[in-house]
Amino acid sequence: MGEYIIEGNHILHGRVRIQGAKNSALPILAATVTTGKPCVIHNCPELSDVKSTIEILKALGCSVKRNGSSVWVDSSKLNNNQISDSLMRESRSSVIFLGALLSRTGEAVITAPGGCDIGVRPIDLHLLSIQKLGVSISEDCGKIRCKAEKMQGTKIALSFPSVGATENIILTAVHTPGVTTIINAAREPEIVDLSKFLNLAGAKISGAGESTIIIEGVENFRSVQYSVMPDRIAAATYMTAAAVTHSDIVLEDVVPNHLMPIIPCFEQSGCKIMQSGNKLRIIAPSELNSFESVRTMPYPGFPTDCQALITVLACVAKGTTYISENIFENRFKHICELNRLGADIVAHDRTIAVRGVKSLYGARVCACDLRAGAALTVAGLCANGTTVVGNIQFIDRGYENFSGNLKMLGAVIRRKD
Ligand code: UD1
Repeated sequence: MGEYIIEGNHILHGRVRIQGAKNSALPILAATVTTGKPCVIHNCPELSDVKSTIEILKALGCSVKRNGSSVWVDSSKLNNNQISDSLMRESRSSVIFLGALLSRTGEAVITAPGGCDIGVRPIDLHLLSIQKLGVSISEDCGKIRCKAEKMQGTKIALSFPSVGATENIILTAVHTPGVTTIINAAREPEIVDLSKFLNLAGAKISGAGESTIIIEGVENFRSVQYSVMPDRIAAATYMTAAAVTHSDIVLEDVVPNHLMPIIPCFEQSGCKIMQSGNKLRIIAPSELNSFESVRTMPYPGFPTDCQALITVLACVAKGTTYISENIFENRFKHICELNRLGADIVAHDRTIAVRGVKSLYGARVCACDLRAGAALTVAGLCANGTTVVGNIQFIDRGYENFSGNLKMLGAVIRRKD
């Protein structure tokens, strides 16, 4: 278990290239299984969650090779459709193999997935939906056994636009005869990215990015090369780092449209945001202001994955900001850690009131999940003195070369393993 040691209050400057999106790379890697052909996934970030996904692919009998940021996966010799509990527990995205395996082999045996501890995170919507397509499900001793019986496309209305459930339905439906329609589908850009990959491979998916997605089942897929989209949450992380350190930096390889739900907070706090093509420049003022209340919501609402980060912005902004978490029930664990750094945050139920303080001070804190860890690191960048962030293995799940990139921007941060 490593830690980051950060000396705060250094101004950042320069450019940072944004990594490929974790939440796109993971389902796309799982989706290579549905093709049965060699695929190359470019712009695939070096993350521990990607490593676990590659371990699953190998355990299923796929050949996998990484060359720089490109990952070659050949699933033609897939010879297993069971995933062990230890591999399932490594990440939340392991559950996406359910749809991919059903689609490819007609069967899958999995256990409950792991991932960050930010709530109960059930998979009932995944299971109910694939059942509607004709999958029979039985559970024994923690194993979930799924078998494609009389598969037929149908209408599936989700009671909540779950990202993972939408991905699993798409993956199960791509080879299911007939037409599957998902109503109240998740609209996240990662769903669009997965669908683009699958369509290139030969799938017939329309409407990705909208609430209704239509999937026409097809039999055969082809080999495909695909480049993963930029990571909007990593982009938000560097934007927050720039804002709280009163800096001026340029983010390269971003999709500015994906950042629209978060940009108003930065603008209201006094930051200037300039976009040009796939670059975004953020110029932060010497004094930040509080911003309008934030409520996390499914895309295109404010992303829950940016909630901890935006809280750090509010911590050092003049005035009080209210932030509500509506997606996960247990995603405020970073609050007491931020208060250890001198923040003034009061939580009530699913809303926090963040009273801005003049400055934070360095202390020893502990990451409790991926985004909370990133937020604490960003807080350390603007704290007076030295901050030590422990448990950074959580941060490794989602950030490629995090401390290296921050250092390159002028931060004083070192990693101790
Ligand atoms: C994905 C992202 C995660 C992000 C989240 C919401 C990946 C690997 N992870 O997670 O970073 O924070 O979307 O944008 O892509 N729910 C149920 N039953 C289900 C499924 C979900 O009740 O069967 C609930 C969850 O407990 C949660 C909410 O729905 O409260 C949203 O979950 P979901 O959209 O499924 O998130 P994930 O796919 O797990």
